[in-house]
Amino acid sequence: MTVGHYGQPSFCVNDLMLEAKKIILGVTGSIAAYKAAFLVRLLVKAGAEVRVLMTPAAAQFISPLTLSTLSKNQVHTAVSAEDSWNNHVEMGLWADAMVIAPVTATTLAKMANGICDNIIVATYLSARCPVFFAPAMDLDMWQHPATRENVRRLQTYGNHLIPVEHGELASGLVGNGRMAEPETIVHHLDQFFQASTLLAGKKVLITAGPTFEPIDPVRFVGNRSSGRMGIALAEQAKARGAEVVLILGPTHLRPSSPGIQTISVQTATEMAAAAKQHFPKSAVAILAAAVADYRPGEVAKEKIKKKKDTFTLELIKNPDIAATLGQQKKENQLLIGFALETQEEETNAKGKMVKKNFDFIVLNSLRDEGAGFNLLTNKISIIHRDNKIKKYELKSKEAVAGDILDEIEQLLSKH
Ligand code: PMT
Repeated sequence: MTVGHYGQPSFCVNDLMLEAKKIILGVTGSIAAYKAAFLVRLLVKAGAEVRVLMTPAAAQFISPLTLSTLSKNQVHTAVSAEDSWNNHVEMGLWADAMVIAPVTATTLAKMANGICDNIIVATYLSARCPVFFAPAMDLDMWQHPATRENVRRLQTYGNHLIPVEHGELASGLVGNGRMAEPETIVHHLDQFFQASTLLAGKKVLITAGPTFEPIDPVRFVGNRSSGRMGIALAEQAKARGAEVVLILGPTHLRPSSPGIQTISVQTATEMAAAAKQHFPKSAVAILAAAVADYRPGEVAKEKIKKKKDTFTLELIKNPDIAATLGQQKKENQLLIGFALETQEEETNAKGKMVKKNFDFIVLNSLRDEGAGFNLLTNKISIIHRDNKIKKYELKSKEAVAGDILDEIEQLLSKH
């Protein structure tokens, strides 16, 4: 079946990458809710399994019976019914993608602020899959700074905006604010899954966290890395279908997705050994760990006693994991490095990229507020071998991980 109207993308539903994909569709209370029926129909025709959630307001615009008939699944409008609990956690984990279309200004604000008073926001907060949102509202509401800020926030959390369209609105005004047509929404989903397949089944090796280099049984030389950036990369790569091996230095954080093979290490030497073992079969390696460049030459067997006023520690060089993998790298492998800098950032990062044979380097600078160690956010630039630089705004580490993997998928598509 080929679909497409009013200048919307036209495609044959059978050619889409939506076969057997599990999609949650959240419908909120907007006049555009009627388009949810067409959206469900298209998704089901493309082979997707669709479960619909509605707010009570949405149920005033379109009947749950219509959407349950089209989706062939029960529609939920509340977290709990009279005698049962609709398990939003299970649904959030079940889905390959969640789409909220239409999303009103109210639900946008709730999602942006974690106000969990309906089944759609509860499922959204529990979802580990990519989330797409297609707003619908009047043009002034769409342009209001509060809405702009909520949209921006949702994007920095890594959610995908399906932009509004220009046209006549329910108020009779003409402008931006119409929900994207169902064909456009399906096209966005399809594009996402097409791109995701580039990493599907590929082995991705990620280093993350600090290394602790022992001085004696109680002390070590270490750094402030939490592992959060590398864990976010592991989660994102897993969500895109990769087989992920995460080599994680000492941190209390752990990935939450099942199926990420996590190898816990303490020292640079241990991290190097695990990386060397897993790199040959990896299509991509991303080195986000903050590896100690030096370690104490001798590790005392017993706790060192306080004696003199000064204490000298002799440090010896650690293996450079990145440089070693860079030398071993084959034609069909990608090696991505990080650079954490405090001065002459771009020059230093470019130098590291060349020296360690990275395909591109992710630069983060401690001079940028909100970037670097032990924070929930990061601000990066991606520098390529041809010196092209892409600069990104401050985002959650999850969203930054998404940007890095998008860039990797672009390189894979040319490989
Ligand atoms: O863990 P978080 O708290 O979330 O913080 C994230 C981060 C700031 C640690 C991360 O974004 C980051 O910048 N990681 C790299 C930090 C670093 O040590 O950069 P570097 O410029 O010293 O090293 C350059 C590259 O070589 C890095 O890819 C590093 O992993 C690698 N390297 C360095 C030394 C070494 N002996 N072996 C290596 O593999």
